[in-house]
Amino acid sequence: MIEARGLTKRYGRTVAVNALSFTVQPGRVTGFLGPNGAGKSTTMRMILGLDRPSAGEVRIGGRRYMELKEPLREVGALLEAKWVHPNRSARAHLRWMAASNRIAAKRVDEVLDAVGLTAVAGRRAGSYSLGMAQRLGIAVALLGDPGVLLFDEPVNGLDPEGILWIRQFMHRLADEGRTVFVSSHLLSEMALTAQDLVVIGRGRLIAQTSTKSFIESAADSSVRVRGPELARLHSVLAGQGLAVQELPATEDTPATLVVRGSSTEAVGELAGAVGLVLHELTESRGSLEQAFIQMTGGEVEYQAGGGAAPASSGLAVPAGAQAPFAPPGPVPAGAPGFPPPGAVPPPGAVPPPGGGSGPAATRETASRGGQEGTQ
Ligand SMILES: Nc1ncnc2c1ncn2[C@@H]1O[C@H](COP(=O)(O)OP(=O)(O)OP(=O)(O)O)[C@@H](O)[C@H]1O
Ligand SMILES: [Mg+2]
Repeated sequence: MIEARGLTKRYGRTVAVNALSFTVQPGRVTGFLGPNGAGKSTTMRMILGLDRPSAGEVRIGGRRYMELKEPLREVGALLEAKWVHPNRSARAHLRWMAASNRIAAKRVDEVLDAVGLTAVAGRRAGSYSLGMAQRLGIAVALLGDPGVLLFDEPVNGLDPEGILWIRQFMHRLADEGRTVFVSSHLLSEMALTAQDLVVIGRGRLIAQTSTKSFIESAADSSVRVRGPELARLHSVLAGQGLAVQELPATEDTPATLVVRGSSTEAVGELAGAVGLVLHELTESRGSLEQAFIQMTGGEVEYQAGGGAAPASSGLAVPAGAQAPFAPPGPVPAGAPGFPPPGAVPPPGAVPPPGGGSGPAATRETASRGGQEGTQ
């Protein structure tokens, strides 16, 4: 279990992490979600004792990282994939790490096997693809068989096969009872990977909740229905007091009705009762992208100078990936799964802290390198 209480980190005038409190439970994958610059990596570095909090604290299993006697056996982390010496083989690297941490050499072969690197373990790590380097990073994290695992953006740059592998691997680790905390700005990826979410924006907590209720609480759901007698269908449904919107035909799709606040069962039964043929009856749940933007109410502008960002800047959907619950149809214009411009945040959404041009909005990338560490 990881517990953060009032965790705060300032870099000069930049408040990278701002009074963040959350808990990460064992036996589940918890997604750490937020746009670029939200403070995810900084939080992870503080969990690992690589950065000192300016205020507050974070504990792993009730203790601060510095108090852990054998940290590698308690917490493993993948912060950056390409940090292994390029001329060293994966096996040599792991053996060196094992030896310097009093971990049995046979554990090296176990972790190589677990991440599927056994066949290439003798090859120079410098020749590895990004996917292989990620697997090696995960092998390192697993070396001490720790109960707590941290992964910072593990799927960045991976192909669909690599993404799927990592996702399944995280589930396996959680099923083994471990605490798995994984950061991403890829919302649709998190919806598939994480059971719970810690959502942050500008260093502040926006929500801590299950992925399911995060989506349900903020995203709209609707029923998409079409058939050969669309006008009649429209009047039957509207006649029952349902909110029905007609989407005109496009080159690819015939005209379709979108019914809000109902269910496929109810719509199907109403159509059936008057003998109407249907060609489509689909429930479309709101996407995590929609949920996120509605919760944060335009709080996607974590950019230099606080200027308005293009909608896609902080909320990327991996190339080729579908927003998991996004329907192919009735999502309004814009990027897949995104609400229309000017969508109103729901009541209760946390307002953006400090307005659009506060110090937290300034990225000081030039000064980052020196303070970033490796494990
Ligand atoms: N060492 C540092 N020195 C100065 N500012 C920093 C440092 N590390 C991070 N920051 C700033 O703190 C804020 C949070 O950065 P952080 O890297 O934690 O965000 P992130 O959520 O991991 O973003 P990304 O999705 O881009 O990885 C940013 O404004 C960043 O510029
Ligand atoms: Mg980061």
